[in-house]
Amino acid sequence: MTDRILILDFGSQVTQLIARRVRESGVYCEIHPFNKVTADSLKSFGPKGLILSGGPSSVLDANAPLPPACVYESGLPILGICYGQQSMCHQLGGKVESGHEREFGRAYVDISDDCALFHGAWAKGGREQVWMSHGDRVTAIPPGFRSVATSEGAPFAAIANDDKRYYAVQFHPEVVHTPHGAKLLANFVHGVCGCKNDWTMAAFRAQEIAKVRAQVGPGRVICGLSGGVDSSVVAALLHEAIGDQLTCVFVDHGLMRMGEAEQVVNVFRDRFNINLVHCDASDLFLSKLAGMTDPELKRKTIGGLFIDVFEAEAKKVGGADFLAQGTLYPDVIESVSFIGGPSVTIKSHHNVGGLPTRMNMKLVEPLRELFKDEVRALGRELGLPEEMVGRHPFPGPGLAIRIPGQEITRDKLEILRKADAIYLEEIRNAGLYDAIWQAFAVLLPVRTVGVMGDSRSYDYALALRAVTSTDGMTADFYHFDMNFLGRTANRIINEVKGINRVTFDVTSKPPGTIEWE
Ligand code: XMP
Repeated sequence: MTDRILILDFGSQVTQLIARRVRESGVYCEIHPFNKVTADSLKSFGPKGLILSGGPSSVLDANAPLPPACVYESGLPILGICYGQQSMCHQLGGKVESGHEREFGRAYVDISDDCALFHGAWAKGGREQVWMSHGDRVTAIPPGFRSVATSEGAPFAAIANDDKRYYAVQFHPEVVHTPHGAKLLANFVHGVCGCKNDWTMAAFRAQEIAKVRAQVGPGRVICGLSGGVDSSVVAALLHEAIGDQLTCVFVDHGLMRMGEAEQVVNVFRDRFNINLVHCDASDLFLSKLAGMTDPELKRKTIGGLFIDVFEAEAKKVGGADFLAQGTLYPDVIESVSFIGGPSVTIKSHHNVGGLPTRMNMKLVEPLRELFKDEVRALGRELGLPEEMVGRHPFPGPGLAIRIPGQEITRDKLEILRKADAIYLEEIRNAGLYDAIWQAFAVLLPVRTVGVMGDSRSYDYALALRAVTSTDGMTADFYHFDMNFLGRTANRIINEVKGINRVTFDVTSKPPGTIEWE
């Protein structure tokens, strides 16, 4: 078993970042809700150390979430971060007080003593930048602890109990605004907990192949392939694990970008030699979408049809015992979060959530433990082409939601495809593709007057969108150079018949969303 760390979640917005940093340092870790941890679960998970996350609560509240006693009885090293530090101090005999000024944002800590967390990063006497976000603060530390760093707003910015191997910090080492934070976390997991550097995608590949074989046995697995990163990696991994017991179904809804459908068939059928059913259902999708302009109706129609077609194709190949899905770790954390709760539906996202019960299949989810960047690394490890692995996200309903407020027709799809391909080609040529989270063109439901040569034109206007983001939840528009935009607009208007005006979308999310529908 790989060495591992357990992170107890107290509801911080950035708990996932702790896990990212720990894994980036080569150590496997999981996030569990603090109230699901028991002596037995600790024993079976077998961590070499524990991290207590931050959180929005106050330890002074009557029903404050606190680590269960088994955490301290385990004898394991513990790192408390922000609320995690306060709960440690509160439970172990120190003091936490509220009512002080909130400290939020960049702050500086003075390093007052050496500490195992600081090796190779911070030295006694130094002043270092950190990120703070707290209202309450520790005002007395428990017996056995010493103070190793202080800040203006937090007299005990970092504390240590070397005998017990307990460490705690008021600031957030997991965010990039604490420049040496990743090193501090690496020092905890390697130096203090003694974890090896054994979390690699090569190790994961071997481990997961064995797991899939054990789970599936001689059974048959069906996998929906979309050409996106997640489903592509699932397919390549499963094929390596179970070969011809896997059948992939690619439901081609006719709403893909230029050359994408051909690429899916080319890579998976021709290069990987995977059993692939390519179902060209574009006539069906386009006929059902005819006359439809409402975004939610489009999304629901496409989602429903997708499931129907997928199910029919699965029956044709004789059914299967398992359905493979590209569920990722953030989805898993989301679904077990103790503070989760229904949020407002902004858009009905397209997925195959209802399928397994409807078709009476069990799930195979080999990416359940991975973050997106790890999925990409695994894809490279499996030999998938870079343009597939490094690809921007693409929505399930495809180009249908990029022809907003109007009926979708083959002609419009063709115009949009050509413009989108030119835009992406220009972005790639300028070396900007990897700096952008997502870039695409949107065909607007408006025609404008122009002059081409000596004659009047009356054609569609097109919007270009490009955003930066880390998770798609918030986004900023990408700040292109104006010459780039001018050059791209020119090419699109000259090369794509049907477009005579190009605009650039400078809306961030919120208040906008990334897609237009
Ligand atoms: P929005 O438009 O909600 O998009 O800001 C956030 C991210 O989600 C993608 N997106 C989808 N992905 N099915 C998907 O698989 C969908 O129905 C869907 N709608 C939006 C969007 O492209 C962006 O990356």
